[in-house]
Amino acid sequence: MATLDGKVAIVTGAAGDIGREITRAFVKAGATVNACDVESKRLESLCEELSESPGKVIPYVTDISDLSAINAMVDSVAKKFKAVHILINGAAICPLTSIEEIEESEWDKTLSINLKAPFFVTKAVIPLMKTSKWGRVINISSISGFIGGILTSPAYSISKAGLICFTKYLAKRLAPYGITANAIAPGTAETRMTECFPKEGKETILKSIPLGRFALPSDIVPAALFLASDETGFITGQTIHVNGGQYM
Ligand SMILES: NC(=O)c1ccc[n+]([C@@H]2O[C@H](COP(=O)([O-])OP(=O)(O)OC[C@H]3O[C@@H](n4cnc5c(N)ncnc54)[C@H](O)[C@@H]3O)[C@@H](O)[C@H]2O)c1
Repeated sequence: MATLDGKVAIVTGAAGDIGREITRAFVKAGATVNACDVESKRLESLCEELSESPGKVIPYVTDISDLSAINAMVDSVAKKFKAVHILINGAAICPLTSIEEIEESEWDKTLSINLKAPFFVTKAVIPLMKTSKWGRVINISSISGFIGGILTSPAYSISKAGLICFTKYLAKRLAPYGITANAIAPGTAETRMTECFPKEGKETILKSIPLGRFALPSDIVPAALFLASDETGFITGQTIHVNGGQYM
């Protein structure tokens, strides 16, 4: 397993099912993870669980739809550590509302959390990556951003497609500073996010997955560890699809 000894990370959505698995793996690999989420109880229990690990986890109860909260969180990390090496943009919401039904407020909220927030978290973190001339930005996109959505609201799939464009922009813009930017696009995963998917829809999706099951949160971890590692400094602007063959 890659060592992340001495690395400082920020993980948004760290209390989520996938975010927690990534945080666990990073902390076990020796990183200090600044774990950001709106769910304070789940953050608290994650910190307790990881208290004996090689790395550290520091909770930030932060609503990333609020730009001032993003900046306060990153400022606080900057004061403590001076540098950030790894950023996982993982927080998201996933409404299922169709174009016929969606209201402007839901569109705005989805794009604000899923696309605008990763943009501004990254903007705030870039100076802290430049200082060490080493950085890994990892955006959690989705299969939905590639195929136009599966049961999800178009706002969700559009936000996830936007993250892919953003990843490529960052890869070009940040390359001179030793910072890479890549995305992970999970297929349909068994997490809280998909609990609200209608049963019939889920059965249809399952049939479309050659490996015959939904992704588990732990399936996403190897891609995150790989992209965060020292050894992958020549990989940038790419997307790793973790989907059991659901999209290829
Ligand atoms: N579950 C899937 O099928 C699937 C598929 C493809 C991509 N993804 C992506 O994986 C990532 C993790 O999702 P998950 O499945 O673990 O779902 P999850 O709901 O368990 O995790 C999402 C986390 O984001 C947090 N969050 C939401 N709004 C926030 C805000 N305003 N500020 C801070 N945190 C906020 C939530 O509290 C939650 O802990 C997301 O980016 C999601 O889009 C999931």
